[in-house]
Amino acid sequence: MKKFEIATLEGDGIGPEVCRSAVRVMQQACGTQLLSFTQYDGGASCYKKSGEVLSEETFQACSQADAIFHGAAGLPDVTYPDGTEVGNDLHLRLRFRLDLYANVRPIKLYQPQFSPLKNVRPGGIDYVIVRENTEGLYSARGGGNNLRGEVVTDTMVMTRKGIERVVRFAFELARKRNGAPMDDKRRLTVCDKANILRSYAFFRSVATEVAQHYPDIALDYAYADAITVHMVKRPDFYDVIVAENMFGDIISDLGAATVGGMGIAPSAEIGDHHGLFQGAHGSAPDIAGLDVASPLATILSGAFMLRWLGDRHQHSGLIEAAQRIETAVESTLAENKVIPRDLGGLAGCKAVTEAVCSNMR
Ligand code: IPM
Ligand code: MG
Repeated sequence: MKKFEIATLEGDGIGPEVCRSAVRVMQQACGTQLLSFTQYDGGASCYKKSGEVLSEETFQACSQADAIFHGAAGLPDVTYPDGTEVGNDLHLRLRFRLDLYANVRPIKLYQPQFSPLKNVRPGGIDYVIVRENTEGLYSARGGGNNLRGEVVTDTMVMTRKGIERVVRFAFELARKRNGAPMDDKRRLTVCDKANILRSYAFFRSVATEVAQHYPDIALDYAYADAITVHMVKRPDFYDVIVAENMFGDIISDLGAATVGGMGIAPSAEIGDHHGLFQGAHGSAPDIAGLDVASPLATILSGAFMLRWLGDRHQHSGLIEAAQRIETAVESTLAENKVIPRDLGGLAGCKAVTEAVCSNMR
């Protein structure tokens, strides 16, 4: 029986505790014969110790693994001379070097009381943001110009190939979903600022070309500013949203806030040959090691990883395990007994992990 090799990077802050929680849940869901988790060091703490945020040896191990599982990285006091954070280089380098072009962020409301929005019905928010993950404004990272501390530039890069593949990914995803909660319509919303910048107008025109191959999916457009209002006022309209890197970064945090916060926001960074799975949240060093972080975003990212591996290897056992974890999270939240703090409860990381495990049993 194939044993799937998972390169595990716990990282910094709450990274280790939420990562261990999710690994425990996955091992319970899959048994210990299916997955092999190998620990690798990386991130800001690693950089402080070794001067390396991601060693070449660790990178090679990640590129040879069946999947990469990550807790969180970054410490605010560990920065480069240009002021940018070191720890983020751990997964930014993996994104770019492994060409993880689709950053997939499900936004799902598990219980109405978790949303800060009024009058949201159960199941009323259920969409996915597909963030382009290898170019856009992030391609300027570590580059750009600083002229005598007077002028600083960062350049936006968009390629036809980069836009086509992430838009196609988003359309294929919409085909697999049941449509928007509002009207069950399969819909792809292109988020941009085509009214202002040529690069975004290019993003929209390439997306519109790709749409011709998906007549069964409704095509919608929204400017990045306007969509922030719609995501709050009529979130049930959305099914799949595709956005450039920086816009995707920003609207995915807003989306997470409408369903309860970053503690319930999983993410998958997917390319044609590799996948990296982690909660969409940061390392939250202020609450690290206090058993107060919510492990749910990382646990749901683990389920996402099992589903991705299951699809990739036609392995029904992995897909069933993913479903078991998702159902256990859903029932744990529906019971409304063991609720993490960021969703208004009192439960710590260990208690939530235990509740999910017992609901799986
Ligand atoms: C995210 C984070 C990262 C990003 C940071 C930590 C590098 O905000 O994954 O959304 O900006 O992409
Ligand atoms: Mg972000």
